[in-house]
Amino acid sequence: MKKITVLGSTGSIGKNTLQIALMFPDRFDICAIAAHKSVKLLKKQIDMFAPRVAALFDEEAACELKTLVDTKKTKILSGAAGVNEAAAYGGADLVVSAIVGSAGLLPTLSAIEAKKDIALANKESLVMAGELVMNLAAYSGVKIFPVDSEHSAIYQSIMGHNISEINKIILTASGGAFVDRSIGELEAVTVEEALRHPNWNMGRKVTVDSATMMNKGLEVIEAHHLFGIKPEDIKVVIHRQSIVHSMVEYVDGSVIAQLGLPDMRTPIAFALSYPERIPVKLPRLDLTKQGALTFEAPDLKKYPALGLAYDAIAMGGTAPAALNAADEVAVEHFLRNKIKFCDIPKIVKKTMTEVKNNVKININTIISTAKEARVKAKEIIDKGSY
Ligand SMILES: NC(=O)c1ccc[n+]([C@@H]2O[C@H](COP(=O)([O-])OP(=O)(O)OC[C@H]3O[C@@H](n4cnc5c(N)ncnc54)[C@H](OP(=O)(O)O)[C@@H]3O)[C@@H](O)[C@H]2O)c1
Repeated sequence: MKKITVLGSTGSIGKNTLQIALMFPDRFDICAIAAHKSVKLLKKQIDMFAPRVAALFDEEAACELKTLVDTKKTKILSGAAGVNEAAAYGGADLVVSAIVGSAGLLPTLSAIEAKKDIALANKESLVMAGELVMNLAAYSGVKIFPVDSEHSAIYQSIMGHNISEINKIILTASGGAFVDRSIGELEAVTVEEALRHPNWNMGRKVTVDSATMMNKGLEVIEAHHLFGIKPEDIKVVIHRQSIVHSMVEYVDGSVIAQLGLPDMRTPIAFALSYPERIPVKLPRLDLTKQGALTFEAPDLKKYPALGLAYDAIAMGGTAPAALNAADEVAVEHFLRNKIKFCDIPKIVKKTMTEVKNNVKININTIISTAKEARVKAKEIIDKGSY
């Protein structure tokens, strides 16, 4: 029985993970869960999975949760310290890191320090602190299994191969909600439209990031750290159908890809069960019924956020942390109808030029740069100076 901690258990990835655990009750035991403040859902999950530990970041929500559950069976933790403690829970074999955004960084590091293997959905950990995370994982002997479908595809396409024989990685992107809109049409798009992803059902932040293609930019940074591939060897293609999840081209010209229907439960199941594959009962890909698979180069004028991510890698230091923090603030404001969709990359770009890039990377410089970038992005939005 593999014992699993799910950080962000009430989110899209978290719920999909618990669905897989439910399908295989003899294989997976959910031993710890954590979320921000979704009391009702966490209580439901405690009733269903009987974890030994549950944490809520929000202190008030955690107090309420304590009144609803048998605390002798499930220890309730709270605050940032509580979430970090849940992440490091000693009884776990694998930690699914699925908190959204920069809030996922410290819990992910806590889990790695506790020598827990990681199923990583929280790409922001690698975007902000890729070197730190990968070095700590190597030092602690921890394996990192990507959950992002693209990175899972690459992981599967390089299994049994030598990294030095890779020519390039080709990340596929759906193009998001506005793949068929012109640049001019993007000026007037609404939050509701941005949240209508053509292929994937995901959390709000990652769905908006898909529409700007900042998500793909963050994934380029994630792939750079996970697989040790230079950014110039990581290409992005728009593949509207989201069937080919990504590809690896080798020095001999062979291209190896991983395909499947767009359902996050497939890469999650792979990360949970590695090195085995488990018989997940989900609809299957039938290529004879699928229709054409198309591939197009992305237009960087339409998707400037993608270019900003490559810029951040080139700048190095804490620039990716600033990029990520500025994007979080801009997306939050877009979701509250405070800025327009097209303003998101403008705000990120301006923040990156105004926040000092610290070339010394450690957890303090990363966190202080992210904090500074959040303040700066907010200031830029408040002044309307983008
Ligand atoms: N969704 C996808 O299909 C998908 C695909 C690939 C990668 N990812 C990545 O996976 C991560 C999660 O995405 P998602 O779409 O699942 O997000 P989501 O649906 O918005 O869920 C976010 C989860 O994080 C929890 N959370 C937020 N702040 C927290 C904090 N400070 N402490 C503890 N928990 C906190 C939330 O708890 P509450 O419910 O209490 O707010 C919720 O459980 C992101 O990094 C995303 O980029 C997602």
